[in-house]
Amino acid sequence: MTEPLQHQSVLAAESLELLSLRPGDVYVDATAGLGGHALMAADRVAPDGAVVLNDLDGSMLERAEARVRAGQPGLRVEAVHGSFAGLPAAMAERGLAADGFLADLGFSSPQVDDPGRGFSFRHDGPLDMRLDPTRGVSAAELLATASEAEIAEILWSFGEERGSRRIARKVVASRESKPITTTRELAELVRSCTTGGGVDPATRTFQALRIAVNDELGALSALLEAISSQARPTQDAEGPISSGADRLHGQGQRWLAQGARVAIISFHSLEDRLVKRAFGALADAGQARKLTRKPIMPADAEIATNRRARSARLRAIELVPPAEGGTGR
Ligand SMILES: C[S@@+](CC[C@H](N)C(=O)[O-])C[C@H]1O[C@@H](n2cnc3c(N)ncnc32)[C@H](O)[C@@H]1O
Repeated sequence: MTEPLQHQSVLAAESLELLSLRPGDVYVDATAGLGGHALMAADRVAPDGAVVLNDLDGSMLERAEARVRAGQPGLRVEAVHGSFAGLPAAMAERGLAADGFLADLGFSSPQVDDPGRGFSFRHDGPLDMRLDPTRGVSAAELLATASEAEIAEILWSFGEERGSRRIARKVVASRESKPITTTRELAELVRSCTTGGGVDPATRTFQALRIAVNDELGALSALLEAISSQARPTQDAEGPISSGADRLHGQGQRWLAQGARVAIISFHSLEDRLVKRAFGALADAGQARKLTRKPIMPADAEIATNRRARSARLRAIELVPPAEGGTGR
């Protein structure tokens, strides 16, 4: 198989414009993927800024790092392998605080197009679905061990699958004779439980399992909490961050600089709801300013060349530094 290397970065110009990066800034890409957004950001923060790349998938991270280093030789580039929920600690270890932060959620085209990763019902492959295949429980293991009620709950909560109970019952009945280990077996089982045209009935089940296997909503909630905690005045114990050198050489426990801009691109309503709620709460508390009153969605021209972009929603905020002499210091 030739390696699929293409991934069209979604809402790239829009997100970079909102982040408003300048030379010397620290940019954090929580979901580096193939490094498309990161490379554009690197061009903006060069020559004396820094780019921190993070991804749960080590193979994506390597490619993003190579791409950004090749595009901006000499720029400080840090690669962090793991969930973005661990970024605050990784940033603290490196003494960095971000001026611009982007999370472009979900998965990238090379991941979904690789049958060996098990994300797609369009190809037959092992039923894995882990974004980090080196740890955790695969979708096949989950379906082999979870109770019928747990499977139904996953399909309903993360896929809004109306046939969740029926599918769960059939999974449990079928695993008694043979565990479900391939994407084709699962897709056929789901199709046999449902009727009607439109999108492939396996779509919702695959989405739900991917969200569960990778604890996508748990990781996003942890990230949003980490962002919110940086906006709260009580986190400002170390005082204000001034500029370039300070940002690069450590200032206590902050991992988002004061006035940092944060952008998140989500791809389904469960994610977008969490982002909307967290950003709204910060804005209501006067701790952040919304940079997007409504979510930004891709233009028709982008959707025409990249179908995956059609469900994208971009929201962004800017942390509001506590007023001078305010209660937080
Ligand atoms: C849509 S792609 C990012 C594409 C990238 N912006 C680009 O321009 O090439 C999403 C990436 O996020 C990663 N990812 C998903 N959940 C993650 C998490 N909790 N922590 C870190 N990375 C995650 C996936 O492995 C995938 O590589």
